[in-house]
Amino acid sequence: MQVLDFLKASHQLPEKYKSLTKVEMENEVKRIKEQMGDRLFIPGHHYQKDEVIQFADVTGDSLQLAQLAQANTKAEYIVFCGVHFMAETADMLTNQKQKVILPDMRAGCSMADMANIDQTENCWTSLQQTFGDTIVPITYVNSTAAIKAFVGKNGGATVTSSNATKIVEWAFTQKERILFLPDQHLGRNTAYDLGIPLDAMAIWNPISNQLKYEGDVTQIRVILWKGHCSVHENFSVANVENNRETDAERKIIVHPECSWEVVQAADYAGSTKYIIDKISKSAPQSKWAIGTEMNLVKRLIKDNPDKDITSLNPFMCPCLTMNRIDLPHLLWALESAEQGVITNQVIVDHETTEAAKSALEQMLIHT
Ligand code: 13P
Ligand code: SF4
Repeated sequence: MQVLDFLKASHQLPEKYKSLTKVEMENEVKRIKEQMGDRLFIPGHHYQKDEVIQFADVTGDSLQLAQLAQANTKAEYIVFCGVHFMAETADMLTNQKQKVILPDMRAGCSMADMANIDQTENCWTSLQQTFGDTIVPITYVNSTAAIKAFVGKNGGATVTSSNATKIVEWAFTQKERILFLPDQHLGRNTAYDLGIPLDAMAIWNPISNQLKYEGDVTQIRVILWKGHCSVHENFSVANVENNRETDAERKIIVHPECSWEVVQAADYAGSTKYIIDKISKSAPQSKWAIGTEMNLVKRLIKDNPDKDITSLNPFMCPCLTMNRIDLPHLLWALESAEQGVITNQVIVDHETTEAAKSALEQMLIHT
């Protein structure tokens, strides 16, 4: 077997899990959880499937899960039901004895893949030539550990959608400008909310390695990395207009990973936690169209039977990478942990962790 084939095979779900019934798998997960007790900790992101989230010890958005992972210093195994950048963050925030496992290594994030460290360094060199030492880098947590380390080394911070406003505000106390990566939409929506006009925002294209801006570059306050979430980009202004035409009473609430145009057209915009809180506290019989990931929208429909909830886009699909974590992969991860055979461990090296920690700490202070 070639080395690459071996590596691929070691990440692949063993055949035995494909022939088990749902009930058999659920019973086995329950048994292992009981058997392992506090040695095992399962955080689950709100975008995970029901078949997985039912076994999460805690659920939350990216910020809450980072906080909860950091707070748990006892569990030997942290089986992270989310995507790769979240598991990396958990590994950096936990101690060296704790092992973070991602049940399926293919659970990446297409947005995080839109920025790599070489592109980031090239961008930085070019921006320093144009603007000198006037920029602080800010990265959404939806980015690799290497980018978080780069941001930490350059005096910046990581953000989540829950605290982007506070951190961007803080960033402007540090320097005149910010580089926001990798989500142009969260960056634009956040800066606009803070009063920065769109014509003071430029776009950095990591493919052509160029700054896109028309006008006098000294007016630029925000440089937005040209990245996006392939799930949230599927909500359009046409979806908002259709909902308004069909039912003017239905309120529209969207995640700030949606485009600026969609956020402006909606009634409310905010993080995953904000959306959940807003819907759960809303009046009975209230009507909502939600612009965010479909597993969460379905759960909100189920958990709020007294409200009339739909997806803003009726043709939305769940996030495909979040959906990679399913019951067979969860069971595989748990059985492996129980037997002390670690599969799919996410490890961030010491140097990267140390550099990224200062960026992560800023995020955890500004909550
Ligand atoms: P939050 O959990 O920060 O709202 O982020 C949404 C998301 O897209 C996670 O990948
Ligand atoms: Fe990445 Fe978007 Fe999926 Fe979140 S919803 S994991 S940002 S692709």
